[in-house]
Amino acid sequence: MNSSILIKKKDKFFVEDVCIESIIEKFGTPTYIYSKQRIVDNFKNLESAFKNVDHLICFAVKANSNLAILNLLAKNGAGFDIVSGGELRRVIAANGDPKKIVFSGVGKTSEEIKLAIENNILAFNIESEDELIRIQEIAKSLNKKASISIRVNPDVNANTHPYISTGLKENKFGVSEESALILYKKAKTMDSILIKGIDCHIGSQITDLKPFEDSVKKLIALIDKLELVGIKIKHMDIGGGIGISYNNEKTIAFDDYAKAVFTLTKGRGFKILLEPGRVIMADAGAILTKVEYVKKTQDKNFAIIDAAMNDLMRPSLYGAFHKIFNTSETTDKESVFDIVGPICETGDFIGKDRVISIEPNNILVIMDTGAYAMSMSSNYNSRPRLYELMIDKHKIYTIREKETFDDLIKGEKVLSES
Ligand code: LLP
Repeated sequence: MNSSILIKKKDKFFVEDVCIESIIEKFGTPTYIYSKQRIVDNFKNLESAFKNVDHLICFAVKANSNLAILNLLAKNGAGFDIVSGGELRRVIAANGDPKKIVFSGVGKTSEEIKLAIENNILAFNIESEDELIRIQEIAKSLNKKASISIRVNPDVNANTHPYISTGLKENKFGVSEESALILYKKAKTMDSILIKGIDCHIGSQITDLKPFEDSVKKLIALIDKLELVGIKIKHMDIGGGIGISYNNEKTIAFDDYAKAVFTLTKGRGFKILLEPGRVIMADAGAILTKVEYVKKTQDKNFAIIDAAMNDLMRPSLYGAFHKIFNTSETTDKESVFDIVGPICETGDFIGKDRVISIEPNNILVIMDTGAYAMSMSSNYNSRPRLYELMIDKHKIYTIREKETFDDLIKGEKVLSES
């Protein structure tokens, strides 16, 4: 388990060599911050666990799609897992290599498919027969060949939140093993399709190795059947999904994960692709937020902060837990607080029933928000999106400006009366 990026030195809190206070003086709150070192360490640790395996790590862009972060990962050798034309264009804008891109998602539009074929991506992860047919037609019209994997839904239970479980047969993702076999045979007859791989992604925030092993085993059984009909695959994409420790839960060690994959696939001669998002980014990020008001009622105590569900949806949407630290000195004793945002919804909470000492103007740090925070943010309640800051040793880089009011109303029009 990684240690926190928040370090206490002589009563002051730091991320890398930058004091939290100095960030706030310059940029105010709320603000997303990331530790560059942690991002690189996470990526390299996963790389090194797989060093004995021919592999490619395709970072799941949806976890955090900031250009500086994509560029940092690209420079360290990452490929990318994308799910839209927008993500494809982001990877290109960040100097990522399109030949290291896999394109997942159940609803790829014709424009997106065209853009991806024109950019010679590594593979489409195909999720339905209709999609396969559409890709064949578009590739043919462009006089090009499209490389594909079929995304198999292995029907394994990832034991995670139902909203982020994707590998059960009632989920909309991928196709069953039986349908996959039929689709591969069909793909083999298509003159603009190149069969490259096989793919699965069973869910997110998975803390148990077994569902991963079960799904790899099912893919291997399918690969054996494919070989019998003369279809040989070049890569096995095992998806993302490795969980992190939000609340001291036990997680999967990279070495155990790599060892399990190696044991199951050794000697097979194909490359392993991974699509991790959270495990690269989540613990590298935090949100700095200020307590605006403390509201104590007979039934509950509320700390009302300046960050809200539009900046971090995970608690509202999944009941997700994020650690929250108070970096300020307080004189009040600890009591039980709900830590809530200013948005006009009861679902706007960041932490519930936290035992903490809090006073107005205190600076809190919401931990593990490097993944699925900014990328899921919105302007709800006309709140501008926040600064994203990259901390690199003693330097602070603005990797996204805070939105202005003009940004908020961009493209809107007041109708003139006729
Ligand atoms: N590959 C595919 C096809 C995916 O759909 C996802 C995530 C990943 C890779 C990356 O999964 P990861 O390694 O990050 O677990 N918003 C939710 C997570 C949704 C994940 C969606 N798919 C959350 O905040 O928990």
